[in-house]
Amino acid sequence: MFGGREKIEIKSADQLATMRAAGLVVAKTLEAVRVAVRAGVTTRELDEIARDVISSNNAKPSFLGYHGYPAVICTSVNEEVVHGIPGDRVLGEGDLISIDCGAFIDGWHGDAAISVLVGDVSPDVAELSRVTQEAMWSGLGQARAGNRLSDIGHAVESVIRAAGDYGVVEEYVGHGIGTSMHMHPPVPNYGRPGEGPHLKVGMALAIEPMATLGARHVSVLEDDWTVSTDDGSWASHWEHTVAITEEGPWVLTALDDLRL
Ligand code: MF3
Ligand code: CO
Repeated sequence: MFGGREKIEIKSADQLATMRAAGLVVAKTLEAVRVAVRAGVTTRELDEIARDVISSNNAKPSFLGYHGYPAVICTSVNEEVVHGIPGDRVLGEGDLISIDCGAFIDGWHGDAAISVLVGDVSPDVAELSRVTQEAMWSGLGQARAGNRLSDIGHAVESVIRAAGDYGVVEEYVGHGIGTSMHMHPPVPNYGRPGEGPHLKVGMALAIEPMATLGARHVSVLEDDWTVSTDDGSWASHWEHTVAITEEGPWVLTALDDLRL
C-alpha cells in the first residue's frame, strides 16, 4: 500500500486549499452522522446520511469502491477497531462506534474518524475514547516543519502509555494523503522520536491512533474488511488529516479553521 522509498507528495497552497474544502466536507459529514447516532439507529442509516451530505456538498466519497469497499463510511462498533461495513446492525445503549469518512474534491482527499458514545457508556470506555482522541491531538501537534516523521508516532504512543494499560494497535497506521487517500509515508502510532523523513511544508498526513482496553492484537473478520480485537476488548479510533504549513499544523478535517 505504501511502497518503500517513494517521495512524499508536496502540495502548493492552492492544492492545500482544495484539500481543506474536501476536509470540511468530511467534517460536516461526521458531524451530521454524530448527531444521528442513538440507540436504535442502524449503521446503514448512518451511511445513507453520509452519502447525502457528501453529494450535496459537491464532493465524492473516497471509500466507496476503494479496493471494492461497499460503503461511504466505516462503522466499527465495540470490539471492532476499523473498517466495519455499515449494514443491519442496530446500535444499542452503551455501545462505542467509530465512524471513519473520506471525501474528495477535484481529486484531492480528506480523511477523518471519530469515536461516538451511544448514550451512557461505561466509564472505562469513555476514558478509552478520551485518551485515544488526546493521543491524536498530540500527534497532530507534531506535524511541523523540522520535525521527523517518527515524532508523531512517539507523541501518540506517549499519551496512551501515560494514561494506562491500553493496547496500541500496530497493524493499521496513519498515512500520507493528497491525490490519493493512502499515500507514502505510513504514520505508525508508536515508536522512538527523531527518526524517519524530515517533515516539510506542503506535506499532508492522516494521523489515526487506534487503542484498545485489552491487548493490541487484531484480526480481519470473515467479511474481509472488519478489523476486530482478538481478545474482544473494545477499541477507539480517532483520525484527522493535517497539513504542514509555515505557520504550523493545519487540521484540514476540522469543522472550524483550526491551526495548532
Ligand atoms: N479511512 C481509512 C483509513 O483511515 C480507510 C478506509 S478503508 C476503505 O485509512 F476501504 F474503506 F476505504
Ligand atoms: Co486514514
